[in-house]
Amino acid sequence: IKRIGVLTGGGDCPGLNAVIRAVVKTAIRRYNLEVIGIIDGFYGLVNDIMEPMTEEKVAGILHRGGTILGTTNRDNPFRYAVEKEGQLTFEDRSEQCIENLRRRGIDGLVVIGGDGSLSIALEFHKKGIPVVGVPKTIDNDLSATDVTFGFDSAVTTATEALDRLHTTAESHHRIMILEVMGRYAGWIALYSGVAGGADVILIPEIPFDLDKVCNHIRTRAEKGRKFSIVVIAEGAKEIGGEMVVQKMVAQSHDPVRLGGIGQSIGQKLEMCTGMETRVTVLGHVQRGGSPTAQDRILSTRYGSAAVDAVMEGKFGHMVALRTPKILAVPLQEAVGTAKQVNTDGQIVKAAKSVGISFGD
Ligand code: F6P
Repeated sequence: IKRIGVLTGGGDCPGLNAVIRAVVKTAIRRYNLEVIGIIDGFYGLVNDIMEPMTEEKVAGILHRGGTILGTTNRDNPFRYAVEKEGQLTFEDRSEQCIENLRRRGIDGLVVIGGDGSLSIALEFHKKGIPVVGVPKTIDNDLSATDVTFGFDSAVTTATEALDRLHTTAESHHRIMILEVMGRYAGWIALYSGVAGGADVILIPEIPFDLDKVCNHIRTRAEKGRKFSIVVIAEGAKEIGGEMVVQKMVAQSHDPVRLGGIGQSIGQKLEMCTGMETRVTVLGHVQRGGSPTAQDRILSTRYGSAAVDAVMEGKFGHMVALRTPKILAVPLQEAVGTAKQVNTDGQIVKAAKSVGISFGD
Protein backbone atom coordinates (compact mmCIF):
# COMPACT_ATOMS: atom_id res chain seq x y z
CA ILE A 1 0.00 0.00 0.00
CA LYS A 2 1.42 3.35 -1.11
CA ARG A 3 -1.41 5.82 -1.15
CA ILE A 4 -4.57 6.04 0.94
CA GLY A 5 -7.65 8.24 0.68
CA VAL A 6 -9.64 9.78 3.51
CA LEU A 7 -13.13 11.27 3.52
CA THR A 8 -15.65 12.59 6.03
CA GLY A 9 -19.33 11.79 5.40
CA GLY A 10 -22.69 12.74 6.93
CA GLY A 11 -23.34 15.43 9.54
CA ASP A 12 -20.26 17.09 10.96
CA CYS A 13 -19.11 16.43 14.49
CA PRO A 14 -16.45 17.72 16.91
CA GLY A 15 -13.32 15.61 16.53
CA LEU A 16 -13.45 15.11 12.73
CA ASN A 17 -10.38 17.27 12.23
CA ALA A 18 -8.55 15.45 15.00
CA VAL A 19 -9.21 12.15 13.18
CA ILE A 20 -8.07 13.57 9.82
CA ARG A 21 -4.90 14.89 11.46
CA ALA A 22 -4.14 11.53 13.05
CA VAL A 23 -4.77 9.66 9.77
CA VAL A 24 -2.46 11.98 7.82
CA LYS A 25 0.32 12.07 10.42
CA THR A 26 0.25 8.31 11.09
CA ALA A 27 0.24 7.51 7.38
CA ILE A 28 3.16 9.81 6.63
CA ARG A 29 5.26 9.35 9.76
CA ARG A 30 4.74 5.72 10.60
CA TYR A 31 4.19 4.17 7.19
CA ASN A 32 5.63 6.64 4.70
CA LEU A 33 2.37 6.69 2.72
CA GLU A 34 0.82 9.37 0.57
CA VAL A 35 -2.60 10.62 1.66
CA ILE A 36 -5.30 11.99 -0.62
CA GLY A 37 -8.10 14.03 0.95
CA ILE A 38 -11.47 13.54 -0.74
CA ILE A 39 -13.44 16.77 -0.65
CA ASP A 40 -17.09 16.94 0.52
CA GLY A 41 -17.43 13.26 1.31
CA PHE A 42 -18.95 10.93 -1.26
CA TYR A 43 -19.75 13.90 -3.51
CA GLY A 44 -15.99 14.33 -4.04
CA LEU A 45 -15.52 10.62 -4.59
CA VAL A 46 -18.16 10.55 -7.34
CA ASN A 47 -16.92 13.75 -8.96
CA ASP A 48 -13.19 13.15 -8.45
CA ILE A 49 -12.56 16.19 -6.27
CA MET A 50 -9.49 15.30 -4.27
CA GLU A 51 -6.27 16.86 -3.08
CA PRO A 52 -3.01 15.61 -1.59
CA MET A 53 -2.75 15.96 2.19
CA THR A 54 0.43 17.08 3.89
CA GLU A 55 1.42 17.53 7.51
CA GLU A 56 1.25 21.28 6.92
CA LYS A 57 -2.40 20.99 5.88
CA VAL A 58 -3.34 19.34 9.14
CA ALA A 59 -1.27 21.61 11.37
CA GLY A 60 -3.29 23.49 13.98
CA ILE A 61 -6.58 21.66 13.39
CA LEU A 62 -6.65 19.30 16.40
CA HIS A 63 -8.92 21.57 18.43
CA ARG A 64 -11.03 22.88 15.56
CA GLY A 65 -14.66 21.79 15.08
CA GLY A 66 -16.09 20.77 11.70
CA THR A 67 -14.04 19.12 8.96
CA ILE A 68 -11.39 20.71 6.77
CA LEU A 69 -12.33 18.19 4.06
CA GLY A 70 -15.99 19.25 3.98
CA THR A 71 -18.94 16.89 4.10
CA THR A 72 -22.48 16.41 2.87
CA ASN A 73 -25.23 14.11 4.10
CA ARG A 74 -27.00 13.83 0.78
CA ASP A 75 -24.68 12.06 -1.59
CA ASN A 76 -24.91 8.29 -1.78
CA PRO A 77 -22.89 6.98 -4.77
CA PHE A 78 -25.20 3.94 -4.98
CA ARG A 79 -28.28 6.19 -5.17
CA TYR A 80 -26.88 9.39 -6.54
CA ALA A 81 -29.42 12.16 -7.17
CA VAL A 82 -29.26 13.52 -10.72
CA GLU A 83 -31.59 16.08 -12.26
CA LYS A 84 -32.81 15.15 -15.73
CA GLU A 85 -35.33 17.27 -17.61
CA GLY A 86 -36.44 18.88 -14.37
CA GLN A 87 -36.96 15.47 -12.73
CA LEU A 88 -34.87 14.07 -9.89
CA THR A 89 -33.68 10.55 -10.61
CA PHE A 90 -31.29 8.28 -8.75
CA GLU A 91 -28.35 6.55 -10.42
CA ASP A 92 -25.71 4.08 -9.29
CA ARG A 93 -22.39 5.95 -9.58
CA SER A 94 -20.31 3.48 -7.57
CA GLU A 95 -18.33 2.29 -10.62
CA GLN A 96 -17.33 5.88 -11.30
CA CYS A 97 -16.00 6.11 -7.72
CA ILE A 98 -14.06 2.87 -8.12
CA GLU A 99 -12.56 4.15 -11.36
CA ASN A 100 -11.58 7.45 -9.69
CA LEU A 101 -9.84 5.57 -6.87
CA ARG A 102 -8.06 3.27 -9.33
CA ARG A 103 -6.88 6.12 -11.54
CA ARG A 104 -5.51 7.99 -8.55
CA GLY A 105 -3.74 4.90 -7.27
CA ILE A 106 -5.59 4.90 -3.94
CA ASP A 107 -5.26 1.43 -2.46
CA GLY A 108 -6.85 2.02 0.95
CA LEU A 109 -9.80 4.23 1.87
CA VAL A 110 -10.61 5.58 5.34
CA VAL A 111 -14.27 6.59 5.69
CA ILE A 112 -15.07 8.67 8.76
CA GLY A 113 -18.82 8.59 9.23
CA GLY A 114 -21.96 7.52 11.02
CA ASP A 115 -24.50 4.85 10.09
CA GLY A 116 -25.24 6.26 6.62
CA SER A 117 -21.63 6.73 5.50
CA LEU A 118 -20.44 3.45 7.00
CA SER A 119 -23.29 1.59 5.26
CA ILE A 120 -22.01 3.04 1.98
CA ALA A 121 -18.47 2.01 2.99
CA LEU A 122 -19.76 -1.53 3.54
CA GLU A 123 -21.31 -1.59 0.06
CA PHE A 124 -17.98 -0.49 -1.42
CA HIS A 125 -16.21 -3.19 0.57
CA LYS A 126 -18.57 -5.76 -0.96
CA LYS A 127 -17.46 -4.49 -4.37
CA GLY A 128 -13.83 -5.12 -3.44
CA ILE A 129 -12.76 -1.62 -2.34
CA PRO A 130 -10.25 -1.75 0.53
CA VAL A 131 -12.10 0.37 3.06
CA VAL A 132 -11.80 0.97 6.82
CA GLY A 133 -14.39 2.93 8.86
CA VAL A 134 -14.12 5.32 11.80
CA PRO A 135 -17.24 5.70 14.00
CA LYS A 136 -18.49 9.27 14.08
CA THR A 137 -21.69 10.75 15.49
CA ILE A 138 -22.62 13.05 18.31
CA ASP A 139 -25.65 10.78 18.84
CA ASN A 140 -23.50 7.81 19.98
CA ASP A 141 -25.99 5.44 18.33
CA LEU A 142 -23.54 3.25 16.40
CA SER A 143 -23.32 -0.40 17.43
CA ALA A 144 -20.11 -2.38 17.94
CA THR A 145 -18.22 0.41 19.72
CA ASP A 146 -18.42 1.60 23.32
CA VAL A 147 -18.60 5.16 22.14
CA THR A 148 -18.36 7.31 19.01
CA PHE A 149 -16.19 10.42 18.91
CA GLY A 150 -18.14 13.68 19.13
CA PHE A 151 -20.54 12.37 21.75
CA ASP A 152 -18.59 13.69 24.74
CA SER A 153 -18.38 17.15 23.15
CA ALA A 154 -22.14 17.25 22.46
CA VAL A 155 -22.88 16.13 26.03
CA THR A 156 -20.55 18.82 27.38
CA THR A 157 -22.30 21.53 25.33
CA ALA A 158 -25.76 20.31 26.39
CA THR A 159 -24.65 20.15 30.04
CA GLU A 160 -23.40 23.71 29.91
CA ALA A 161 -26.76 24.76 28.42
CA LEU A 162 -28.54 23.02 31.31
CA ASP A 163 -26.37 24.80 33.87
CA ARG A 164 -27.35 28.11 32.31
CA LEU A 165 -31.04 27.18 32.08
CA HIS A 166 -31.00 26.22 35.76
CA THR A 167 -30.19 29.70 37.01
CA THR A 168 -32.84 31.41 34.92
CA ALA A 169 -35.43 28.68 35.65
CA GLU A 170 -34.89 29.11 39.39
CA SER A 171 -35.08 32.91 39.25
CA HIS A 172 -38.37 32.90 37.31
CA HIS A 173 -39.96 29.78 38.82
CA ARG A 174 -40.37 28.30 35.37
CA ILE A 175 -40.24 24.98 33.63
CA MET A 176 -37.31 25.02 31.21
CA ILE A 177 -37.25 22.48 28.41
CA LEU A 178 -34.07 21.70 26.50
CA GLU A 179 -34.52 19.77 23.25
CA VAL A 180 -31.36 17.95 22.19
CA MET A 181 -30.50 15.80 19.17
CA GLY A 182 -31.08 12.06 19.05
CA ARG A 183 -33.65 10.75 16.61
CA TYR A 184 -33.31 7.08 17.46
CA ALA A 185 -31.43 7.09 20.74
CA GLY A 186 -31.44 9.22 23.86
CA TRP A 187 -27.72 9.14 24.75
CA ILE A 188 -27.19 12.92 24.65
CA ALA A 189 -30.38 13.58 26.62
CA LEU A 190 -29.55 10.92 29.21
CA TYR A 191 -25.91 11.85 29.80
CA SER A 192 -26.42 15.62 29.77
CA GLY A 193 -29.56 15.24 31.88
CA VAL A 194 -27.66 13.34 34.56
CA ALA A 195 -24.63 15.67 34.35
CA GLY A 196 -26.78 18.80 34.34
CA GLY A 197 -29.11 17.78 37.17
CA ALA A 198 -32.31 17.60 35.10
CA ASP A 199 -35.60 16.73 36.81
CA VAL A 200 -37.09 14.97 33.80
CA ILE A 201 -35.36 13.14 30.92
CA LEU A 202 -37.43 12.04 27.93
CA ILE A 203 -35.82 9.64 25.43
CA PRO A 204 -37.00 7.51 22.48
CA GLU A 205 -36.26 4.28 24.37
CA ILE A 206 -38.78 5.07 27.14
CA PRO A 207 -42.14 6.29 25.77
CA PHE A 208 -43.44 8.78 28.31
CA ASP A 209 -46.80 9.44 29.89
CA LEU A 210 -47.40 13.20 30.02
CA ASP A 211 -49.55 12.90 33.16
CA LYS A 212 -46.64 11.32 35.00
CA VAL A 213 -44.32 14.12 33.90
CA CYS A 214 -46.90 16.70 35.08
CA ASN A 215 -47.31 14.98 38.43
CA HIS A 216 -43.55 14.87 38.94
CA ILE A 217 -43.22 18.60 38.28
CA ARG A 218 -46.28 19.46 40.43
CA THR A 219 -44.98 17.36 43.34
CA ARG A 220 -41.65 19.19 43.15
CA ALA A 221 -43.48 22.55 43.21
CA GLU A 222 -45.53 21.46 46.23
CA LYS A 223 -42.28 20.68 48.03
CA GLY A 224 -41.05 24.19 47.31
CA ARG A 225 -38.98 23.46 44.19
CA LYS A 226 -40.82 25.95 42.04
CA PHE A 227 -38.88 25.28 38.85
CA SER A 228 -38.12 22.20 36.80
CA ILE A 229 -35.64 21.28 34.10
CA VAL A 230 -36.72 18.89 31.35
CA VAL A 231 -34.32 17.44 28.73
CA ILE A 232 -36.01 15.90 25.73
CA ALA A 233 -34.42 14.04 22.82
CA GLU A 234 -35.85 15.03 19.43
CA GLY A 235 -37.01 11.44 18.86
CA ALA A 236 -38.79 11.03 22.22
CA LYS A 237 -42.28 9.56 22.03
CA GLU A 238 -45.29 10.47 24.10
CA ILE A 239 -47.58 7.55 24.86
CA GLY A 240 -50.71 8.21 22.83
CA GLY A 241 -49.11 11.27 21.26
CA GLU A 242 -48.02 11.55 17.66
CA MET A 243 -44.41 11.22 16.73
CA VAL A 244 -43.19 14.62 15.77
CA VAL A 245 -39.99 13.69 14.05
CA GLN A 246 -41.44 11.64 11.26
CA LYS A 247 -38.56 10.88 8.98
CA MET A 248 -34.84 10.66 8.82
CA VAL A 249 -34.04 14.32 8.50
CA ALA A 250 -30.43 13.65 7.60
CA GLN A 251 -31.63 12.02 4.37
CA SER A 252 -33.90 14.90 3.53
CA HIS A 253 -32.90 17.57 1.05
CA ASP A 254 -34.78 20.10 3.09
CA PRO A 255 -32.26 22.05 5.18
CA VAL A 256 -34.95 23.12 7.65
CA ARG A 257 -35.07 20.87 10.67
CA LEU A 258 -38.47 19.45 11.53
CA GLY A 259 -37.87 19.40 15.28
CA GLY A 260 -40.72 20.60 17.41
CA ILE A 261 -41.35 17.99 20.08
CA GLY A 262 -39.91 20.29 22.77
CA GLN A 263 -42.34 23.00 21.74
CA SER A 264 -45.41 20.78 21.76
CA ILE A 265 -44.52 19.20 25.11
CA GLY A 266 -43.80 22.67 26.52
CA GLN A 267 -47.29 23.84 25.67
CA LYS A 268 -48.86 20.76 27.20
CA LEU A 269 -46.77 21.02 30.38
CA GLU A 270 -47.64 24.68 30.82
CA MET A 271 -51.33 23.79 30.59
CA CYS A 272 -51.27 20.83 32.94
CA THR A 273 -48.99 22.37 35.60
CA GLY A 274 -50.08 25.99 35.33
CA MET A 275 -46.38 26.92 35.44
CA GLU A 276 -44.80 29.26 32.98
CA THR A 277 -42.69 27.27 30.52
CA ARG A 278 -39.92 28.12 28.07
CA VAL A 279 -38.36 25.90 25.39
CA THR A 280 -34.80 25.94 24.06
CA VAL A 281 -33.87 23.89 21.01
CA LEU A 282 -30.12 23.36 21.26
CA GLY A 283 -29.89 22.38 17.57
CA HIS A 284 -26.62 22.56 15.72
CA VAL A 285 -24.88 24.40 18.55
CA GLN A 286 -24.30 20.90 19.97
CA ARG A 287 -22.61 19.79 16.74
CA GLY A 288 -20.29 22.75 16.29
CA GLY A 289 -17.22 24.03 18.07
CA SER A 290 -14.17 22.52 19.69
CA PRO A 291 -14.00 18.87 20.72
CA THR A 292 -13.44 18.14 24.41
CA ALA A 293 -10.09 16.77 25.56
CA GLN A 294 -11.63 13.29 25.75
CA ASP A 295 -12.85 13.51 22.13
CA ARG A 296 -9.49 14.80 20.93
CA ILE A 297 -7.80 11.79 22.49
CA LEU A 298 -10.38 9.30 21.19
CA SER A 299 -10.27 10.83 17.69
CA THR A 300 -6.48 10.66 17.63
CA ARG A 301 -6.57 7.01 18.69
CA TYR A 302 -9.26 6.19 16.09
CA GLY A 303 -7.43 7.97 13.24
CA SER A 304 -4.13 6.34 13.95
CA ALA A 305 -5.72 2.88 14.48
CA ALA A 306 -7.59 3.24 11.16
CA VAL A 307 -4.28 3.56 9.29
CA ASP A 308 -2.90 0.57 11.22
CA ALA A 309 -6.01 -1.39 10.16
CA VAL A 310 -5.45 -0.45 6.51
CA MET A 311 -1.82 -1.62 6.73
CA GLU A 312 -2.92 -4.86 8.40
CA GLY A 313 -5.42 -5.45 5.57
CA LYS A 314 -8.43 -5.33 7.88
CA PHE A 315 -10.73 -4.10 5.14
CA GLY A 316 -14.48 -4.03 5.66
CA HIS A 317 -13.77 -3.24 9.31
CA MET A 318 -14.34 -0.25 11.56
CA VAL A 319 -12.09 0.84 14.39
CA ALA A 320 -14.01 0.61 17.66
CA LEU A 321 -13.44 1.34 21.31
CA ARG A 322 -13.74 -1.78 23.41
CA THR A 323 -12.45 -0.25 26.60
CA PRO A 324 -9.53 -0.10 27.18
CA LYS A 325 -8.56 -1.14 23.64
CA ILE A 326 -9.21 0.08 20.13
CA LEU A 327 -10.04 -2.92 17.94
CA ALA A 328 -11.11 -3.45 14.34
CA VAL A 329 -14.64 -4.91 14.12
CA PRO A 330 -16.62 -5.88 11.00
CA LEU A 331 -18.56 -2.93 9.54
CA GLN A 332 -21.51 -5.30 9.27
CA GLU A 333 -21.77 -5.33 13.08
CA ALA A 334 -21.77 -1.54 13.34
CA VAL A 335 -24.42 -0.46 10.85
CA GLY A 336 -28.13 -1.01 10.31
CA THR A 337 -29.58 -0.77 13.79
CA ALA A 338 -29.20 2.18 16.12
CA LYS A 339 -27.56 1.36 19.44
CA GLN A 340 -30.09 2.45 22.02
CA VAL A 341 -29.89 3.21 25.73
CA ASN A 342 -30.32 0.14 27.93
CA THR A 343 -33.44 1.09 29.87
CA ASP A 344 -32.56 -1.36 32.66
CA GLY A 345 -28.94 -0.23 32.74
CA GLN A 346 -26.98 1.37 35.55
CA ILE A 347 -27.16 4.93 34.29
CA VAL A 348 -30.94 4.96 33.99
CA LYS A 349 -31.15 3.25 37.37
CA ALA A 350 -28.86 5.82 39.01
CA ALA A 351 -30.81 8.65 37.38
CA LYS A 352 -34.06 7.29 38.81
CA SER A 353 -32.41 6.82 42.22
CA VAL A 354 -31.55 10.50 42.39
CA GLY A 355 -35.14 11.42 41.55
CA ILE A 356 -35.10 12.00 37.80
CA SER A 357 -38.37 11.07 36.10
CA PHE A 358 -38.48 9.43 32.66
CA GLY A 359 -42.24 9.78 32.54
CA ASP A 360 -42.72 6.00 32.75
O1 F6P B 1 -26.88 12.25 13.27
C1 F6P B 1 -26.53 13.43 13.86
C2 F6P B 1 -27.64 14.43 13.87
O2 F6P B 1 -27.06 15.43 14.59
C3 F6P B 1 -28.99 14.03 14.44
O3 F6P B 1 -29.10 13.94 15.81
C4 F6P B 1 -29.89 15.09 13.87
O4 F6P B 1 -31.22 14.69 13.81
C5 F6P B 1 -29.32 15.26 12.51
O5 F6P B 1 -27.94 14.92 12.59
C6 F6P B 1 -29.50 16.60 11.91
O6 F6P B 1 -28.75 16.68 10.75
P1 F6P B 1 -28.87 17.84 9.64
O7 F6P B 1 -29.53 19.01 10.23
O8 F6P B 1 -27.46 18.09 9.26
O9 F6P B 1 -29.67 17.24 8.54
